[in-house]
Amino acid sequence: MDSEIHQYAGDILEHPRFQQLHSFQHHGPENSVYDHSVAVAVTAYAIARRMRLSGDETASVVRAALLHDFFCYDWRSEHFRRYIHHFSGVRRLMHMHGFVHGYIAAGRAKRVFGLSERECDAIARHMFPLAAMPRTKIAWIITLADKAVASREMTAAIGDYLSLAYRKVFA
Ligand SMILES: [Fe+2]
Ligand SMILES: [Fe+2]
Repeated sequence: MDSEIHQYAGDILEHPRFQQLHSFQHHGPENSVYDHSVAVAVTAYAIARRMRLSGDETASVVRAALLHDFFCYDWRSEHFRRYIHHFSGVRRLMHMHGFVHGYIAAGRAKRVFGLSERECDAIARHMFPLAAMPRTKIAWIITLADKAVASREMTAAIGDYLSLAYRKVFA
């Protein structure tokens, strides 16, 4: 499966800006944005194959899935927390990571990798229902693949945190 992902998006996987995603923790202590993005691309690719999408559509699914979280900042950092506190009330809510990162990732995917409007639109909407509703097959595949992978990773993260806490208390 990884070789197929490479075939459609080798330029992205090897790009230093994408490699940078290794350094951002995502869903738990053992998961980076890089790990998560590749896992979403693998799942989205499997769905695209099952739906018998064309080669071009499959390429779009894989490329947009890899870049769906290409926001490139640490959303747990003090720096981001301080930025959010510039806003208040509903405006603060609307600037929270969950609401904005799809749009930020879409802009970066266009600037750095020249993704098409349709691919960028799929990225921007992947946080539905926190973002606008997906309106293409590609967007729905990425949205669903992201939720499936994120649920799996967050379940694993809860296990990691519980075993850390257990070792602290009983070791
Ligand atoms: Fe996301
Ligand atoms: Fe994601």
